[in-house]
Amino acid sequence: AKGSCTMNILEELRVRFRPILAQLTSDPESYLKLLRPTQDERLGDYQADLAMPLAKALRRKPREIAEEIVAALDVADMAHPPEIAGPGFINFRLRDEYLEKCLQALLEDPRLGVPPVEKVETIIIDYSAPNVAKPMHVGHIRSTVIGDAIYRTLRFVGHRVISDNHIGDWGTQFGMIIYGYRHFLDEDAYKKNPTAELARLYRLVRQLIDYQEAVQKIAELEGRLQAKEQELAGVSSNQTSAAATKMEDKKRRELQEEIEELREELEELRRKRAAVEDNPTLYEWAKAHPNIEQDVLQETAKLHAGDEENLRLWREFLPHSLDEMNRIYRRLGIRFDYTLGESFYHDRLGPLVEELVQKGLARESEGAICIFFPDIDTPMIIRKQDGAFLYATTDLATLRYRMETWNPDAILYVVDFRQSLHFRQLFAAARMMGYDRVKLVHVSFGTVLGEDGRPFKTREGDVVGLESLLDEAVRRAYQIVCANDDAKPTGPELSEEERRRIAEVVGIGALKYADLSQNRTSDYVFSYDKMLAMTGNTGTYMQYAYARIQNIFAKGGVDVTTLRKLDGPIHLKHPAERALGREILRFPEAIQLVLEDYRPNQLTGYLFSLANRFSTFYESCPVLQAADSEERQSRLLLCDLTARVIRQGLELLGIEVVNRM
Ligand code: ARG
Repeated sequence: AKGSCTMNILEELRVRFRPILAQLTSDPESYLKLLRPTQDERLGDYQADLAMPLAKALRRKPREIAEEIVAALDVADMAHPPEIAGPGFINFRLRDEYLEKCLQALLEDPRLGVPPVEKVETIIIDYSAPNVAKPMHVGHIRSTVIGDAIYRTLRFVGHRVISDNHIGDWGTQFGMIIYGYRHFLDEDAYKKNPTAELARLYRLVRQLIDYQEAVQKIAELEGRLQAKEQELAGVSSNQTSAAATKMEDKKRRELQEEIEELREELEELRRKRAAVEDNPTLYEWAKAHPNIEQDVLQETAKLHAGDEENLRLWREFLPHSLDEMNRIYRRLGIRFDYTLGESFYHDRLGPLVEELVQKGLARESEGAICIFFPDIDTPMIIRKQDGAFLYATTDLATLRYRMETWNPDAILYVVDFRQSLHFRQLFAAARMMGYDRVKLVHVSFGTVLGEDGRPFKTREGDVVGLESLLDEAVRRAYQIVCANDDAKPTGPELSEEERRRIAEVVGIGALKYADLSQNRTSDYVFSYDKMLAMTGNTGTYMQYAYARIQNIFAKGGVDVTTLRKLDGPIHLKHPAERALGREILRFPEAIQLVLEDYRPNQLTGYLFSLANRFSTFYESCPVLQAADSEERQSRLLLCDLTARVIRQGLELLGIEVVNRM
């Protein structure tokens, strides 16, 4: 309603613009996107850059359009008269009284200004989905953490959200463990700690398979390397023209790079070869069984065909793998509404393929059953020549099950970008099956890199286990908690137990935040030092800002519940107060941006800017020592609102806060 304060200021400005733009164009929405917070704060709070493109489309002068819009626009209750700058930028400066009124309205609002959605949708999120029985590694954290943040945010705005962890519990890894169990089991170890023994068996069989693959590949790569080296030696260096010399230099550099790459690849393969050759038992075994990968596939095939012994083993192993997985989820503070893994769909695959063939949606090609698409070159194989079903078949069955069970408006798949072809095919197939109204989104993300810019590995070349990652982050956080005195000068020393608990919250928070603060589509470089830095866009900085505010309250003996009930007034006299107040009011805008394209980094970016404004405010505006009690109260309320937004924002990211650190 006009005159009162609104929850999302940017949205409110758009509401005022919409009818005016509708008079000028048939597509007001795309122009409304050009209304946004100002880049340059000196120009005001929001700016509209829509007059220029609009003028172009209408073949009129931009300034004229801007003037026409401003003349028709009624924002007097919110902002000072808009200013037109340059060729036709429209700048808005919000009225202080308006900001103050809006902030006061937040005091009693548990949603901190974020309005619930008007149309509640049913949304399924498919995330985390590790292949169990293999140790979880650093790659899994991205899907898990990003998916969880999207889940929480969609819930917060009021959607009906269902998380379904589509775990890989039916794949070759079980063939590997069954194979290992048959031939390498250490019974005592299995009795004592089945999970650890199964993990050992998995690694052992992996080693054997890698070994046999390496032996073959080494021969091939050595040949390639030799050829390249000869080619390099053959590039002569006695050219006469400068151009020819330059060409040769380039050629030489290219060759050297290729050689370097080949050498590195070879080195890794030789490491894998040595790992088995150095172990007499394994070495003998590998020599006596020339194709272990094939044998493992056979075990998997038997499992899928319903072989009783293999099924019995699978049933015995699965709970151990799930325990392991759930322990990590508990530590990460993550839970799922459903965990319907691949095995859940097994019985549905055969009939589904039959049906698709019958309906003419799939057909045979070279012995396999495939779905062909008009606009995607690669067909999707849903049954192999040998009768085996694939990942894609399971995903189709899963999609159908979800449609039939929950009739969702949208399904989001938070999965590695490398699977984008798979999801394009899956979505196209879904349309062909008649699911044409549901919104299907592949929320894809990039790779986690080590500080050397390569996929994150341990020094031995293994992928880094998730558990050890958490441990290390917590260990480093503990050091910080012990070293940092700034946010805990009040009250007694922290006990050892408190320190440990805080370290867990800070370490895990840092890890999650580091991932979430990256643009999800780009690769990101994993660095403990950066993620646990006390300044900059880190979870630690955010938690610290929160703890600092709690410390102000503790020092001043302030009871926040009483404080909030006083209902203001809030005054924004100092520029730092105003900047902070305005930022607090942007929380709903940040949430909206996150949900537009499922990007939690929109929220971390916002929180960072909020924490920065708070810092400036804290440096320039005494709170407990304010000039008078009214100013003190107003500032305390700003502190409280800041803390609440930080806590709520972090909660949406799945990160906890602590009062002292
Ligand atoms: N288990 C799969 C993997 O590790 C991810 C599954 C993602 N979800 C899905 N419905 N395909 O690659």
